[in-house]
Amino acid sequence: MTSQEPQQASRSRARSLDAHLSRYAARTAGMTASEIRALFSVASRPEVVSLAGGMPNLSALPMESLAGEVARLVADEGQVAFQYGSAQGVPELREQITEVMALEGISAHPDDVVVTVGSQMALDTVTRIFCDPGDVVLAEAPSYVGALGSFTAYQAEVVHVAMDEAGLIPEALRAALDSVQAAGRRVKFLYTIPNFHNPAGVTLAVSRRAEVLDICARHGVLVIEDNPYGLLGFDDQIYPALRSMDAENVVYLGSFSKTFASGLRVGWALAPHAVREKLVLASESATLCPPTFNQFLVSRYLSTHDWKGQVKKYREVYRERRDAMLSALEQHLPDGCTWTRPDGGFYVWLTVPEGIDTKAMLPRAITQRVAYVSGTAFHANGFGSRQMRLSFCYPTPERIQEGVRRLGGVLQDELELLATFGSVPQRPRLGADSPGPDTA
Ligand SMILES: Cc1ncc(COP(=O)(O)O)c(C=O)c1O
Repeated sequence: MTSQEPQQASRSRARSLDAHLSRYAARTAGMTASEIRALFSVASRPEVVSLAGGMPNLSALPMESLAGEVARLVADEGQVAFQYGSAQGVPELREQITEVMALEGISAHPDDVVVTVGSQMALDTVTRIFCDPGDVVLAEAPSYVGALGSFTAYQAEVVHVAMDEAGLIPEALRAALDSVQAAGRRVKFLYTIPNFHNPAGVTLAVSRRAEVLDICARHGVLVIEDNPYGLLGFDDQIYPALRSMDAENVVYLGSFSKTFASGLRVGWALAPHAVREKLVLASESATLCPPTFNQFLVSRYLSTHDWKGQVKKYREVYRERRDAMLSALEQHLPDGCTWTRPDGGFYVWLTVPEGIDTKAMLPRAITQRVAYVSGTAFHANGFGSRQMRLSFCYPTPERIQEGVRRLGGVLQDELELLATFGSVPQRPRLGADSPGPDTA
Protein backbone atom coordinates (compact mmCIF):
# COMPACT_ATOMS: atom_id res chain seq x y z
CA MET A 1 0.00 0.00 0.00
CA THR A 2 1.41 3.47 -0.88
CA SER A 3 1.28 6.34 1.63
CA GLN A 4 -1.35 8.04 -0.62
CA GLU A 5 -3.83 5.17 -0.39
CA PRO A 6 -5.42 5.83 3.01
CA GLN A 7 -6.03 9.48 2.07
CA GLN A 8 -7.56 8.49 -1.26
CA ALA A 9 -9.80 5.94 0.44
CA SER A 10 -11.04 8.48 2.97
CA ARG A 11 -11.69 11.07 0.20
CA SER A 12 -13.68 8.54 -1.76
CA ARG A 13 -15.66 7.59 1.37
CA ALA A 14 -16.47 11.27 1.96
CA ARG A 15 -17.56 11.65 -1.69
CA SER A 16 -19.92 8.69 -1.56
CA LEU A 17 -21.35 9.90 1.76
CA ASP A 18 -22.00 13.33 0.21
CA ALA A 19 -23.72 11.60 -2.69
CA HIS A 20 -25.97 9.65 -0.29
CA LEU A 21 -26.89 12.79 1.60
CA SER A 22 -27.84 14.51 -1.63
CA ARG A 23 -30.28 11.67 -2.32
CA TYR A 24 -32.46 12.23 0.73
CA ALA A 25 -36.17 12.45 -0.04
CA ALA A 26 -37.52 16.01 -0.19
CA ARG A 27 -39.64 15.33 2.89
CA THR A 28 -36.54 15.07 5.09
CA ALA A 29 -35.72 18.75 4.54
CA GLY A 30 -37.90 19.81 7.47
CA MET A 31 -36.60 17.08 9.76
CA THR A 32 -34.32 18.82 12.18
CA ALA A 33 -33.55 17.97 15.82
CA SER A 34 -36.22 19.63 17.95
CA GLU A 35 -35.04 22.37 20.28
CA ILE A 36 -35.90 20.04 23.13
CA ARG A 37 -33.62 17.30 21.85
CA ALA A 38 -30.79 19.73 21.14
CA LEU A 39 -31.07 20.91 24.71
CA PHE A 40 -31.23 17.53 26.31
CA SER A 41 -27.54 16.84 26.87
CA VAL A 42 -26.89 20.15 28.64
CA ALA A 43 -30.19 20.33 30.47
CA SER A 44 -29.79 16.84 31.86
CA ARG A 45 -26.57 17.65 33.74
CA PRO A 46 -27.31 17.07 37.42
CA GLU A 47 -26.45 20.62 38.46
CA VAL A 48 -29.06 22.06 36.09
CA VAL A 49 -32.66 22.18 37.32
CA SER A 50 -34.49 21.10 34.22
CA LEU A 51 -37.93 22.60 33.81
CA ALA A 52 -37.56 21.64 30.15
CA GLY A 53 -38.37 17.95 29.70
CA GLY A 54 -41.84 16.45 29.92
CA MET A 55 -40.83 13.08 31.38
CA PRO A 56 -43.57 11.48 33.46
CA ASN A 57 -42.73 10.99 37.13
CA LEU A 58 -42.72 7.26 37.80
CA SER A 59 -41.85 7.49 41.51
CA ALA A 60 -45.38 6.45 42.48
CA LEU A 61 -45.43 3.22 40.42
CA PRO A 62 -45.66 -0.02 42.46
CA MET A 63 -42.48 -1.61 41.07
CA GLU A 64 -42.51 -4.78 43.18
CA SER A 65 -46.00 -5.70 42.29
CA LEU A 66 -45.29 -4.93 38.61
CA ALA A 67 -42.24 -7.21 38.77
CA GLY A 68 -44.58 -10.00 39.93
CA GLU A 69 -46.99 -9.23 37.11
CA VAL A 70 -44.19 -9.39 34.51
CA ALA A 71 -43.00 -12.75 35.92
CA ARG A 72 -46.53 -14.19 35.84
CA LEU A 73 -47.03 -12.92 32.30
CA VAL A 74 -43.88 -14.71 31.13
CA ALA A 75 -44.77 -17.92 32.98
CA ASP A 76 -48.47 -18.06 32.05
CA GLU A 77 -48.63 -16.51 28.58
CA GLY A 78 -45.03 -16.24 27.33
CA GLN A 79 -45.71 -18.28 24.18
CA VAL A 80 -48.25 -15.71 23.01
CA ALA A 81 -46.86 -12.57 24.61
CA PHE A 82 -43.44 -13.02 22.98
CA GLN A 83 -45.04 -13.66 19.57
CA TYR A 84 -46.15 -11.33 16.74
CA GLY A 85 -49.73 -10.20 17.18
CA SER A 86 -52.54 -8.53 15.31
CA ALA A 87 -51.79 -5.21 13.57
CA GLN A 88 -54.81 -3.66 15.24
CA GLY A 89 -53.79 -4.70 18.73
CA VAL A 90 -54.70 -7.32 21.33
CA PRO A 91 -58.53 -7.65 21.41
CA GLU A 92 -58.80 -7.80 25.20
CA LEU A 93 -56.79 -4.62 25.56
CA ARG A 94 -58.91 -2.85 22.95
CA GLU A 95 -61.97 -3.79 24.98
CA GLN A 96 -60.37 -2.36 28.13
CA ILE A 97 -59.41 0.81 26.26
CA THR A 98 -63.09 1.42 25.52
CA GLU A 99 -63.71 1.23 29.29
CA VAL A 100 -60.95 3.79 29.93
CA MET A 101 -62.48 6.14 27.36
CA ALA A 102 -65.95 5.66 28.85
CA LEU A 103 -64.68 7.78 31.78
CA GLU A 104 -64.68 10.73 29.35
CA GLY A 105 -68.16 9.95 28.09
CA ILE A 106 -67.03 8.07 24.98
CA SER A 107 -69.09 5.16 23.82
CA ALA A 108 -67.05 3.08 21.37
CA HIS A 109 -66.70 -0.41 19.97
CA PRO A 110 -63.35 -2.23 20.40
CA ASP A 111 -63.35 -2.81 16.60
CA ASP A 112 -62.75 0.90 16.10
CA VAL A 113 -59.73 1.04 18.37
CA VAL A 114 -56.24 0.69 16.89
CA VAL A 115 -53.41 0.14 19.37
CA THR A 116 -50.26 2.07 18.43
CA VAL A 117 -46.68 2.47 19.60
CA GLY A 118 -47.53 5.41 21.86
CA SER A 119 -49.93 8.07 20.66
CA GLN A 120 -46.97 9.58 18.82
CA MET A 121 -47.21 6.76 16.30
CA ALA A 122 -50.95 7.31 15.99
CA LEU A 123 -50.22 10.95 15.18
CA ASP A 124 -47.67 9.95 12.58
CA THR A 125 -50.01 7.40 11.00
CA VAL A 126 -52.98 9.75 10.91
CA THR A 127 -50.83 12.36 9.19
CA ARG A 128 -49.48 9.76 6.79
CA ILE A 129 -52.91 8.65 5.65
CA PHE A 130 -54.41 12.13 5.36
CA CYS A 131 -51.72 14.57 4.27
CA ASP A 132 -50.22 15.13 0.86
CA PRO A 133 -47.39 17.64 0.55
CA GLY A 134 -48.79 21.16 0.73
CA ASP A 135 -52.00 20.23 2.56
CA VAL A 136 -52.87 22.46 5.46
CA VAL A 137 -53.24 21.27 9.04
CA LEU A 138 -54.66 23.57 11.69
CA ALA A 139 -53.08 23.45 15.13
CA GLU A 140 -53.31 25.61 18.21
CA ALA A 141 -50.68 28.29 18.80
CA PRO A 142 -48.64 26.94 20.53
CA SER A 143 -48.84 23.20 19.80
CA TYR A 144 -47.19 19.91 20.78
CA VAL A 145 -43.70 19.75 19.31
CA GLY A 146 -43.96 16.04 18.38
CA ALA A 147 -47.11 16.71 16.35
CA LEU A 148 -45.45 19.60 14.53
CA GLY A 149 -42.57 17.20 13.75
CA SER A 150 -44.96 14.68 12.16
CA PHE A 151 -46.75 17.35 10.15
CA THR A 152 -43.45 18.66 8.83
CA ALA A 153 -42.23 15.17 8.00
CA TYR A 154 -45.21 14.70 5.67
CA GLN A 155 -44.72 18.21 4.23
CA ALA A 156 -48.03 19.49 5.53
CA GLU A 157 -48.24 23.21 6.21
CA VAL A 158 -49.26 24.17 9.75
CA VAL A 159 -51.58 27.13 10.19
CA HIS A 160 -51.83 28.11 13.84
CA VAL A 161 -55.06 29.08 15.58
CA ALA A 162 -55.02 31.38 18.59
CA MET A 163 -55.88 30.22 22.11
CA ASP A 164 -56.68 32.02 25.32
CA GLU A 165 -57.12 30.87 28.93
CA ALA A 166 -60.17 28.87 27.81
CA GLY A 167 -58.34 27.06 25.01
CA LEU A 168 -58.86 27.29 21.26
CA ILE A 169 -60.84 30.42 20.29
CA PRO A 170 -63.80 29.47 18.08
CA GLU A 171 -63.80 32.79 16.19
CA ALA A 172 -60.11 32.36 15.40
CA LEU A 173 -60.81 28.83 14.15
CA ARG A 174 -63.60 30.06 11.90
CA ALA A 175 -61.39 32.85 10.53
CA ALA A 176 -58.47 30.49 9.89
CA LEU A 177 -60.67 28.00 8.03
CA ASP A 178 -62.31 30.72 5.95
CA SER A 179 -59.03 32.30 4.95
CA VAL A 180 -57.27 29.03 4.09
CA GLN A 181 -60.22 27.81 2.08
CA ALA A 182 -60.63 31.19 0.37
CA ALA A 183 -57.01 30.86 -0.76
CA GLY A 184 -57.97 27.59 -2.47
CA ARG A 185 -56.00 25.44 -0.03
CA ARG A 186 -57.24 22.18 1.51
CA VAL A 187 -57.43 21.87 5.27
CA LYS A 188 -57.12 18.19 6.12
CA PHE A 189 -57.73 18.37 9.85
CA LEU A 190 -57.68 20.37 13.02
CA TYR A 191 -55.19 18.97 15.52
CA THR A 192 -56.17 19.91 19.06
CA ILE A 193 -55.17 19.04 22.63
CA PRO A 194 -58.30 20.00 24.55
CA ASN A 195 -57.23 19.03 28.08
CA PHE A 196 -54.26 20.33 30.09
CA HIS A 197 -52.57 21.42 26.92
CA ASN A 198 -48.93 20.72 26.07
CA PRO A 199 -47.35 23.26 26.18
CA ALA A 200 -49.96 25.91 27.09
CA GLY A 201 -51.35 24.29 30.25
CA VAL A 202 -54.91 25.42 29.44
CA THR A 203 -58.12 23.45 28.88
CA LEU A 204 -60.76 23.98 26.22
CA ALA A 205 -63.86 25.33 28.00
CA VAL A 206 -66.72 22.83 27.94
CA SER A 207 -68.96 25.61 26.59
CA ARG A 208 -66.68 25.91 23.51
CA ARG A 209 -66.50 22.23 22.65
CA ALA A 210 -69.72 21.85 20.68
CA GLU A 211 -68.96 25.07 18.79
CA VAL A 212 -65.49 23.89 17.76
CA LEU A 213 -66.99 20.63 16.49
CA ASP A 214 -69.74 22.45 14.69
CA ILE A 215 -67.33 24.81 12.91
CA CYS A 216 -65.18 21.88 11.74
CA ALA A 217 -68.18 19.84 10.60
CA ARG A 218 -69.52 22.80 8.59
CA HIS A 219 -66.15 23.17 6.86
CA GLY A 220 -65.82 19.42 6.26
CA VAL A 221 -62.71 19.23 8.41
CA LEU A 222 -61.77 16.24 10.56
CA VAL A 223 -60.78 16.81 14.19
CA ILE A 224 -57.78 14.99 15.68
CA GLU A 225 -58.31 15.07 19.43
CA ASP A 226 -55.04 14.30 21.23
CA ASN A 227 -55.74 13.58 24.87
CA PRO A 228 -52.86 11.98 26.79
CA TYR A 229 -53.44 14.07 29.94
CA GLY A 230 -57.25 13.88 30.19
CA LEU A 231 -57.32 11.81 33.41
CA LEU A 232 -54.74 14.02 35.14
CA GLY A 233 -57.08 16.79 36.34
CA PHE A 234 -55.95 18.01 39.77
CA ASP A 235 -59.46 18.51 41.11
CA ASP A 236 -60.43 15.02 39.96
CA GLN A 237 -62.48 16.60 37.17
CA ILE A 238 -62.80 14.71 33.88
CA TYR A 239 -63.89 16.75 30.87
CA PRO A 240 -66.15 15.26 28.21
CA ALA A 241 -64.10 14.27 25.19
CA LEU A 242 -64.85 15.92 21.85
CA ARG A 243 -65.25 12.37 20.55
CA SER A 244 -68.08 11.83 23.05
CA MET A 245 -70.02 14.57 21.24
CA ASP A 246 -69.24 13.60 17.65
CA ALA A 247 -68.40 10.06 16.58
CA GLU A 248 -68.29 10.84 12.85
CA ASN A 249 -65.78 13.65 12.56
CA VAL A 250 -63.30 13.00 15.37
CA VAL A 251 -60.26 10.75 15.57
CA TYR A 252 -59.38 10.40 19.25
CA LEU A 253 -55.82 9.64 20.36
CA GLY A 254 -55.11 8.19 23.79
CA SER A 255 -52.07 6.89 25.64
CA PHE A 256 -50.96 4.95 28.70
CA SER A 257 -47.76 7.02 28.81
CA LYS A 258 -48.94 9.51 31.42
CA THR A 259 -51.36 7.34 33.35
CA PHE A 260 -49.20 4.21 33.56
CA ALA A 261 -45.73 3.94 31.98
CA SER A 262 -44.35 5.84 28.98
CA GLY A 263 -41.59 3.28 28.33
CA LEU A 264 -44.13 0.63 27.37
CA ARG A 265 -45.08 2.74 24.36
CA VAL A 266 -48.72 1.76 24.30
CA GLY A 267 -51.20 4.26 22.92
CA TRP A 268 -54.22 4.10 20.65
CA ALA A 269 -56.44 5.76 18.08
CA LEU A 270 -60.22 5.55 18.06
CA ALA A 271 -61.46 6.35 14.59
CA PRO A 272 -64.65 6.28 12.53
CA HIS A 273 -64.91 2.84 10.95
CA ALA A 274 -63.66 3.71 7.45
CA VAL A 275 -60.68 5.65 8.78
CA ARG A 276 -59.87 2.83 11.18
CA GLU A 277 -59.35 0.43 8.26
CA LYS A 278 -56.75 2.65 6.61
CA LEU A 279 -55.09 3.29 9.96
CA VAL A 280 -54.62 -0.44 10.52
CA LEU A 281 -53.09 -0.90 7.06
CA ALA A 282 -50.75 2.05 7.52
CA SER A 283 -49.72 0.94 10.96
CA GLU A 284 -49.13 -2.61 9.78
CA SER A 285 -46.77 -1.38 7.09
CA ALA A 286 -44.86 0.63 9.72
CA THR A 287 -44.54 -1.88 12.56
CA LEU A 288 -46.37 -5.13 11.61
CA CYS A 289 -47.96 -4.99 15.05
CA PRO A 290 -47.59 -3.00 18.25
CA PRO A 291 -45.45 -4.79 20.90
CA THR A 292 -47.47 -7.81 22.03
CA PHE A 293 -45.69 -8.24 25.35
CA ASN A 294 -46.34 -4.65 26.39
CA GLN A 295 -49.99 -4.87 25.41
CA PHE A 296 -50.43 -8.02 27.47
CA LEU A 297 -48.73 -6.31 30.38
CA VAL A 298 -50.95 -3.22 30.16
CA SER A 299 -53.99 -5.46 29.87
CA ARG A 300 -53.04 -7.46 32.97
CA TYR A 301 -52.23 -4.28 34.84
CA LEU A 302 -55.68 -2.85 34.07
CA SER A 303 -57.42 -6.00 35.22
CA THR A 304 -55.35 -6.86 38.30
CA HIS A 305 -54.26 -3.49 39.70
CA ASP A 306 -56.20 -0.59 41.09
CA TRP A 307 -55.23 1.50 38.06
CA LYS A 308 -57.69 4.26 38.88
CA GLY A 309 -56.09 4.52 42.33
CA GLN A 310 -52.71 4.75 40.60
CA VAL A 311 -53.93 7.57 38.36
CA LYS A 312 -55.12 9.34 41.50
CA LYS A 313 -51.62 8.99 42.96
CA TYR A 314 -50.15 10.48 39.81
CA ARG A 315 -52.59 13.37 40.08
CA GLU A 316 -51.38 14.01 43.63
CA VAL A 317 -47.72 13.88 42.59
CA TYR A 318 -48.33 16.39 39.80
CA ARG A 319 -50.65 18.64 41.81
CA GLU A 320 -48.02 19.04 44.51
CA ARG A 321 -45.47 20.02 41.86
CA ARG A 322 -47.87 22.38 40.10
CA ASP A 323 -48.50 24.12 43.43
CA ALA A 324 -44.75 24.42 44.06
CA MET A 325 -44.24 25.97 40.64
CA LEU A 326 -47.11 28.44 40.88
CA SER A 327 -46.06 29.67 44.31
CA ALA A 328 -42.41 29.97 43.21
CA LEU A 329 -43.43 31.94 40.10
CA GLU A 330 -45.44 34.29 42.31
CA GLN A 331 -42.49 34.73 44.63
CA HIS A 332 -39.53 34.98 42.23
CA LEU A 333 -40.62 36.32 38.85
CA PRO A 334 -40.23 40.01 38.06
CA ASP A 335 -43.19 42.25 37.25
CA GLY A 336 -44.41 41.99 33.70
CA CYS A 337 -44.31 38.16 33.56
CA THR A 338 -47.59 36.32 33.18
CA TRP A 339 -48.32 32.60 33.18
CA THR A 340 -51.10 30.07 32.83
CA ARG A 341 -52.50 28.22 35.86
CA PRO A 342 -53.06 24.62 34.76
CA ASP A 343 -55.64 22.52 36.56
CA GLY A 344 -54.05 19.32 35.30
CA GLY A 345 -51.20 17.90 33.21
CA PHE A 346 -47.51 18.83 33.25
CA TYR A 347 -46.97 22.38 31.98
CA VAL A 348 -47.07 26.11 32.65
CA TRP A 349 -46.77 28.57 29.75
CA LEU A 350 -44.88 31.70 30.70
CA THR A 351 -44.87 35.04 28.87
CA VAL A 352 -41.97 37.39 29.66
CA PRO A 353 -41.81 41.17 29.29
CA GLU A 354 -41.36 42.68 25.84
CA GLY A 355 -37.73 42.93 24.71
CA ILE A 356 -36.68 39.58 26.19
CA ASP A 357 -36.12 36.76 23.73
CA THR A 358 -36.45 33.40 25.49
CA LYS A 359 -34.49 31.54 22.84
CA ALA A 360 -31.58 33.96 23.01
CA MET A 361 -31.74 33.92 26.82
CA LEU A 362 -31.50 30.14 27.13
CA PRO A 363 -27.68 29.82 27.15
CA ARG A 364 -27.57 32.31 29.98
CA ALA A 365 -30.27 30.46 31.92
CA ILE A 366 -28.33 27.22 31.55
CA THR A 367 -25.21 28.98 32.78
CA GLN A 368 -27.32 29.86 35.83
CA ARG A 369 -28.28 26.17 36.07
CA VAL A 370 -31.91 26.25 35.01
CA ALA A 371 -33.39 24.98 31.73
CA TYR A 372 -36.71 25.56 29.98
CA VAL A 373 -37.96 25.24 26.41
CA SER A 374 -38.35 28.42 24.40
CA GLY A 375 -41.83 29.05 22.98
CA THR A 376 -40.43 29.02 19.44
CA ALA A 377 -40.17 25.20 19.62
CA PHE A 378 -43.97 24.99 19.77
CA HIS A 379 -44.69 27.09 16.71
CA ALA A 380 -44.20 26.20 13.06
CA ASN A 381 -43.80 29.86 12.14
CA GLY A 382 -41.02 31.18 14.39
CA PHE A 383 -43.43 32.80 16.86
CA GLY A 384 -43.18 32.27 20.61
CA SER A 385 -39.94 34.11 21.38
CA ARG A 386 -41.57 35.89 24.32
CA GLN A 387 -42.81 32.61 25.76
CA MET A 388 -41.39 29.50 27.35
CA ARG A 389 -42.72 26.16 28.55
CA LEU A 390 -41.99 25.21 32.13
CA SER A 391 -42.57 21.56 33.09
CA PHE A 392 -43.33 20.70 36.68
CA CYS A 393 -43.83 16.95 36.21
CA TYR A 394 -40.41 15.53 36.99
CA PRO A 395 -38.31 17.49 39.55
CA THR A 396 -39.09 17.48 43.28
CA PRO A 397 -41.03 20.47 44.62
CA GLU A 398 -37.79 21.77 46.22
CA ARG A 399 -35.93 21.60 42.91
CA ILE A 400 -38.83 23.33 41.16
CA GLN A 401 -38.70 26.18 43.70
CA GLU A 402 -34.94 26.49 43.23
CA GLY A 403 -35.21 26.33 39.44
CA VAL A 404 -37.81 29.09 39.38
CA ARG A 405 -35.70 31.17 41.78
CA ARG A 406 -32.77 30.89 39.35
CA LEU A 407 -35.02 31.72 36.41
CA GLY A 408 -36.29 34.78 38.25
CA GLY A 409 -32.67 35.94 38.68
CA VAL A 410 -31.91 35.46 34.97
CA LEU A 411 -35.02 37.41 33.97
CA GLN A 412 -34.19 40.18 36.42
CA ASP A 413 -30.68 40.48 34.88
CA GLU A 414 -32.18 40.65 31.38
CA LEU A 415 -34.51 43.42 32.45
CA GLU A 416 -31.63 45.37 33.94
CA LEU A 417 -29.64 45.01 30.70
CA LEU A 418 -32.68 46.16 28.75
CA ALA A 419 -33.08 49.18 30.99
CA THR A 420 -29.38 50.06 30.59
CA PHE A 421 -28.77 49.34 26.90
CA GLY A 422 -32.27 49.36 25.41
CA SER A 423 -31.61 45.84 24.14
CA VAL A 424 -29.93 42.75 25.52
CA PRO A 425 -26.32 42.46 24.24
CA GLN A 426 -25.06 39.27 22.54
CA ARG A 427 -24.60 36.45 24.95
CA PRO A 428 -21.98 33.74 25.12
CA ARG A 429 -22.67 30.58 23.15
CA LEU A 430 -24.17 27.60 24.92
CA GLY A 431 -21.48 25.72 26.81
CA ALA A 432 -18.96 28.59 26.84
CA ASP A 433 -19.40 28.84 30.60
CA SER A 434 -19.61 25.62 32.56
CA PRO A 435 -22.41 25.50 35.11
CA GLY A 436 -21.16 25.77 38.69
CA PRO A 437 -21.89 23.25 41.45
CA ASP A 438 -25.48 22.70 42.35
CA THR A 439 -26.64 23.62 45.81
CA ALA A 440 -30.39 23.12 45.40
C1 LIG B 1 -49.86 16.26 23.55
C2 LIG B 1 -49.07 15.01 23.40
N1 LIG B 1 -49.42 14.13 22.46
C3 LIG B 1 -48.75 12.98 22.28
C4 LIG B 1 -47.65 12.68 23.06
C5 LIG B 1 -46.92 11.39 22.80
O1 LIG B 1 -47.17 10.49 23.81
P1 LIG B 1 -46.86 8.93 23.72
O2 LIG B 1 -45.88 8.65 24.79
O3 LIG B 1 -48.17 8.26 23.93
O4 LIG B 1 -46.32 8.66 22.35
C6 LIG B 1 -47.24 13.56 24.06
C7 LIG B 1 -46.04 13.28 24.87
O5 LIG B 1 -45.52 14.09 25.57
C8 LIG B 1 -47.98 14.76 24.23
O6 LIG B 1 -47.65 15.65 25.17
